[in-house]
Amino acid sequence: MDYTTGFSLPRDVLLDRAHSEALLANRWFFVGTRGDLPRPGDMFGFDLFDENVMLIHGHDGRVRGFENRCLHQSARLLDDPTGSCGRRLVCPNHQWSYDPSSGELRGATGMPRAFVDDPADGFTGLRAVAVEERSGLLFACLGEPDASDLDRLDDVIRPYTDPFHLDRGGYRVALHERETVDANWLLVMINNRECVHCRANHPGLCELFDPSSFNGAVTPAYTARFDDAAARWEAAGLAWREQAFDPHDAVRVARYPMSEGHASITFDGRPACRRTIGPWTEHDASTLSIWLNPNAWIHYTSDHIATNWVIPLDAGRCVLATTWLVHEDAVEGVDYDIDHLAEVWRVTNAEDVGLCRSMTAGSRSRHYRPGPFGEDERWCVQFCDWVMANL
Ligand code: FES
Ligand SMILES: [Fe+2]
Repeated sequence: MDYTTGFSLPRDVLLDRAHSEALLANRWFFVGTRGDLPRPGDMFGFDLFDENVMLIHGHDGRVRGFENRCLHQSARLLDDPTGSCGRRLVCPNHQWSYDPSSGELRGATGMPRAFVDDPADGFTGLRAVAVEERSGLLFACLGEPDASDLDRLDDVIRPYTDPFHLDRGGYRVALHERETVDANWLLVMINNRECVHCRANHPGLCELFDPSSFNGAVTPAYTARFDDAAARWEAAGLAWREQAFDPHDAVRVARYPMSEGHASITFDGRPACRRTIGPWTEHDASTLSIWLNPNAWIHYTSDHIATNWVIPLDAGRCVLATTWLVHEDAVEGVDYDIDHLAEVWRVTNAEDVGLCRSMTAGSRSRHYRPGPFGEDERWCVQFCDWVMANL
């Protein structure tokens, strides 16, 4: 395929969904965190092209993935994006039932007992989808994955994420939102990997963060603020040195100081939640940010964690999912207000969605040519190189 590093993706890769299907066929992608399904029996579903997968927090504590399709007549077992079941997962259609931990068939209305006790091939239980957890982050794979890929990724992020102990629970979902977007998911990811668009398109976000800092082109004032913050992080025993794709080509991790007077990722600078999380006993004007190939970015502040991930439905349509996690004891209306907690990413994501729709529309032109990336768009180059190397 005609691809030149330093330029955007070829038209075929963007417009022919077979390429995205190939990219994701045997690759781990981010699908949320343990915080999205904190209790046994909690369920969490998502679409990927024509598939629908549900994650279930088993009664043994492990999160597993299953195809969300009843063995009887293929009804969805989980109709909503999230849900919960007890010890039996019952199909809403004719009440066939399954063990939510193993996916095994337990009851089949109208069938002889032997159908369940001695099932024929293909009827023992729900089709499993590989799901693995690392540092509280959940990854799924539709094909035959290599778990060592995740071990290498975890080696990079664990020193940063461990103090938040997301893998040990202690969080609750304050808000989970999904939006179906008329945009190509790869363009959404490319948009996420640069901040050259930020000054003109994210006036609110630029009050919180110095956009030049995302690309290393820093001002003396920013350097001074960063040095201050690094001293705080050192004192708190927190890892803070950026690791940008070198030790693992699918992850970048960095800490950023926020503008003076900002206790969290809120436009007014006030804490997003009164309860702090992880290593923090006081609010800190900083974020720990993780960018994952192929499909996610996560921000850990001192009072909440915001996960963003994108999944393709088709070449020109994708779902953008965002979850805001807070301390499990935080009380809505007392410790946090949903609209205040969510405002920055709601506004910023909406601004980005507009740009991604626009780029998607433009890329459909038969005169489309991949455009060049500038120096401050180097993580876009990394992403496109990674995509092309893994198709
Ligand atoms: S489709 Fe599920 S029980 Fe019939
Ligand atoms: Fe943006």
